[in-house]
Amino acid sequence: MEKLVIKGGVSLKGVVKISGAKNAALPCIAASILQPEPIKLLRIPNLKDVKTILQILELLGCQYQWNGDEVLINTKDIKTYECPYDLVRTMRASILFLGPLLSRLGRAKISLPGGCAIGARPVNLHLKALELMGAEMQLEQGYIYAKAKKLKGADIFFDIPTVTGTENVMMAAVLAEGKTIIRNAASEPEVVDLAELLRAMGADIQGHGTDTIVIEGVKELRPVIYTIIPDRIETGTYMIAAAITQGDVSIEDCKPEHVGALAKKLREADVNVELQKDKIRVCANGEIKCVDVKTMPYPGFPTDLQAQFMALMCVSKGACVIEETIFENRFIHVAELRRMGADIEVSGNKAYVKGKTKLLAAPVMATDLRASASLVLAGLVAEGGYTEVRRIYHLDRGYEALEKKLIGLGATIWRERE
Ligand code: EPZ
Repeated sequence: MEKLVIKGGVSLKGVVKISGAKNAALPCIAASILQPEPIKLLRIPNLKDVKTILQILELLGCQYQWNGDEVLINTKDIKTYECPYDLVRTMRASILFLGPLLSRLGRAKISLPGGCAIGARPVNLHLKALELMGAEMQLEQGYIYAKAKKLKGADIFFDIPTVTGTENVMMAAVLAEGKTIIRNAASEPEVVDLAELLRAMGADIQGHGTDTIVIEGVKELRPVIYTIIPDRIETGTYMIAAAITQGDVSIEDCKPEHVGALAKKLREADVNVELQKDKIRVCANGEIKCVDVKTMPYPGFPTDLQAQFMALMCVSKGACVIEETIFENRFIHVAELRRMGADIEVSGNKAYVKGKTKLLAAPVMATDLRASASLVLAGLVAEGGYTEVRRIYHLDRGYEALEKKLIGLGATIWRERE
């Protein structure tokens, strides 16, 4: 296994360019199954999760070529509908094959994605919605067995605005018979990006980006060349990196409108945030204030930036409450931040943070993707030696060339074998 070694104390300065969004790439790659011609996706980030989903595609009998940030996918020869446990367990988002496989082949056998560090991560809402569309579902020996002669449009209400649940139903509905309405749909930019890809392929989708999406099934879809959106969570992570190191960073090739909730919170904390067309300049030179945060579905404050923002609050002035409303166990980073001297008390889904003047370098353990990023941010500002972040395979799932981009901003950080 590998670890990142970080020497804190450098104010980050310069320009960092944002890669394509992991959580847009995954559903868009799965959507390639919906039609048999070669489809090209651009701005695909070089991430472990993208590699995994392409490996599953290959196992299903499809071919792909990946050059730089371009992926050419050909699903003409798709021959099976099984997504095996040993790949699904490494990436829950494999559930995104359920809708497309049912659409294309009328069958799907997908290992039930287990929980992960941040929560149980059930997929009951996905299954219930697809049953409403005529799919028969069975759960046996940890697998979802699904089949549907022909999916039919349905009026679906999600108890919770599930991101991948909304994406799965959209991909099931675009070739179904009749109209599908998704009520209480997720409106995340990645859901909108998938809808835009499907529309470019000839799907009839309206209302994406709101809580009600209406889809009229069409006969077939056509191949396209499509560029996915930049990663708003990577964008937010570098915004916080600039703030926590009292730096001055220009974040480019991003979509500022996708990080409005974070920009608002950083400004409340007295961090300077300038939003331009496709770049954001963040600079902090002086005291940062603790501010309360409550994670919410988009456009609220994203749960995927909660851990990173908490690291910033640990070295800000005052005290604040960070409330996590999306996942039941997303404070695992607290114990690790405490090892670095942070003053955080957790009660239920609230973390009470008391800002301190400094954090101390220490060996810490990454436990999930975004918690790992929070520990790197803490390491960038920790004093008294080197912070070692272990098990950074979590990071490689969601951040392209993290240490290279941070070194480009002046950070002292390198990767070592553990
Ligand atoms: C997506 O996960 C993202 N992953 C997550 O990003 C992100 O944290 C999450 O949305 C919330 O924004 C991808 O897009 C690949 P949900 P998803 O279904 O779709 C409950 C990262 O770091 N729920 O919107 O799995 C669920 O337990 C990852 O990139 C059910 O109860 O999240 C959670 O409490 C982490 N039953 C809430 O809904 C269901 O059938 C929201 O989950 C589905 C969800």
